[in-house]
Amino acid sequence: MNPKIVFFDTTLRDGEQSPGVSLDLKQKVEIGKALVELGIDVIEAGFPVTSPGDFEAVKTLAKKVKGATIAALARANKKDIEVAYEALKEAESPRIHTFIATSDIHLTYKLKKNREQVLELAREAVKYACSLCPDVEFSAEDATRSDWEYLTQVVLEAVKAGARTINIPDTVGYTVPQEYYDLIKFLIDKLIEAGYEEDLKAGNLRLSVHCHNDLGLAVANSLSAILAGATQIEGTINGIGERAGNAALEEIIMTLKTRKDFFEKKLGYPLQVDINTRKIVPISQLVSKYTGMIVQPNKAIVGANAFAHESGIHQHGVICERTTYEIIDPAEVGWTGSAIVLGKHSGRHAIGFKLKSRGWQFDDQVLNLVFEKFRTEIKDVLKKIDEEYVEGILLDIFLEKKYRYYLISSQVISVCSGSLKPIAQVEIEDKKEGKKVSVGLGVGPIDAAYKATAEALGYTFKKDTNKKHLKLIEFNISALTGGTSAEGVCGVIIENEKGFRTAGLGRDGDIVIASIKAFLKALNRLEAFEEKGEYLKNQILSLREK
Ligand code: KIV
Ligand code: ZN
Repeated sequence: MNPKIVFFDTTLRDGEQSPGVSLDLKQKVEIGKALVELGIDVIEAGFPVTSPGDFEAVKTLAKKVKGATIAALARANKKDIEVAYEALKEAESPRIHTFIATSDIHLTYKLKKNREQVLELAREAVKYACSLCPDVEFSAEDATRSDWEYLTQVVLEAVKAGARTINIPDTVGYTVPQEYYDLIKFLIDKLIEAGYEEDLKAGNLRLSVHCHNDLGLAVANSLSAILAGATQIEGTINGIGERAGNAALEEIIMTLKTRKDFFEKKLGYPLQVDINTRKIVPISQLVSKYTGMIVQPNKAIVGANAFAHESGIHQHGVICERTTYEIIDPAEVGWTGSAIVLGKHSGRHAIGFKLKSRGWQFDDQVLNLVFEKFRTEIKDVLKKIDEEYVEGILLDIFLEKKYRYYLISSQVISVCSGSLKPIAQVEIEDKKEGKKVSVGLGVGPIDAAYKATAEALGYTFKKDTNKKHLKLIEFNISALTGGTSAEGVCGVIIENEKGFRTAGLGRDGDIVIASIKAFLKALNRLEAFEEKGEYLKNQILSLREK
């Protein structure tokens, strides 16, 4: 069998059939170009007869996207095929993809035709498509619910008529891996019996698979079909598509790469997967952005948590040796940044790793103290723990005595309607310059309090003023216990003009006061770091020298 696996992407056709998804022309071209960079062999650009928009999209992709075959879908009739070719004809390498259903359910209720009539339509459609375009794919829609003998008859007729790719779709996501394997093997044996063995081996004739995910088996079924001898795989980026979606191409690609050993052993010949895997995450994010379909965090390969380690044992393992808990190097699929995320299960090793990666050096006693404070002060109060909070603990240990600002009192007035604005008044102890008082108006009471605090201390959140500029990077607030008297906890990350960030945490029965305390804590750490941070970073921190 030909060792090359052909990847056929239908994100722009079947993927765009996802409920609520609609891509504009510019977005389609950008995704098309990204698919070429990824190394996709065939891009199904649309179904031209269905709308002028689809026609235009296929025509534009045919003209602008070079480096891959561009396919267009057409039902098994002259009009669809003609329109598809009209849209495709300027492509570097065009492919007409024509289809008709072969299951009795579809014949009876949808097509209202008998088996002979459908066989004839399939034969004529392929012949006509071949008269226009040298590259023709035929799909037997709902193949997995079709009678195998009848399906074989249709497949052999399509091959005789000139189709060089025969697709066996699991249109409704009904099959299971072993059954699909048996079906593909059965059809390959029939093609070999009919004299097509050499064509299959040379890759002049390919069996293709196209799986839907209604039972969550689309990827497993596709991989099973490869073991049976299929050499074209159809799917979409992020697995988007009709209903539960199509097979996720990134998962198939990475399974073939990661378990090459297994597939080659079973197949008895080397597999060729010509994909630039580093482009997987960028294209996944592009498709997600343009379709508005969010990738679930725990989705394999491209989900935000796919390579994130939070538990202490796993973090320790990965820090010592990545392969203890990772079967793929995240960089190989295009992830950048650290896979170690801090959370309530993080251990000492992860805390140390994060601080070291931010440039700090310290002895074991310091690390133990930071970890103890992490455990008792922040791990149970923050849902997401950014590394700035851990760095904040370290700064407190060495710089807290130098902190400058303390909240003396504050008062806020909320407004429920009319033209008045919420107003806040704050009184702050500045250890260098004495008491400071200021007033601020805001969208809400916290906004007003932050404006008053910044104003009092010579800062601003606005650009283009003479004051020192601050950016609020993150602000979150939650209740530590239930009920209206719950203690509120506020976490804040701010950034100075140089892009340095610090975090602060504030707790109080009053959420506005908790918010001001968090802001002041972050600001105290920022100023102390600006003054002393670089000096501290140049030494190995130890409690003895504190
Ligand atoms: O799922 C399906 O059967 C299809 C065909 C048109 C290939 O999308
Ligand atoms: Zn489909």
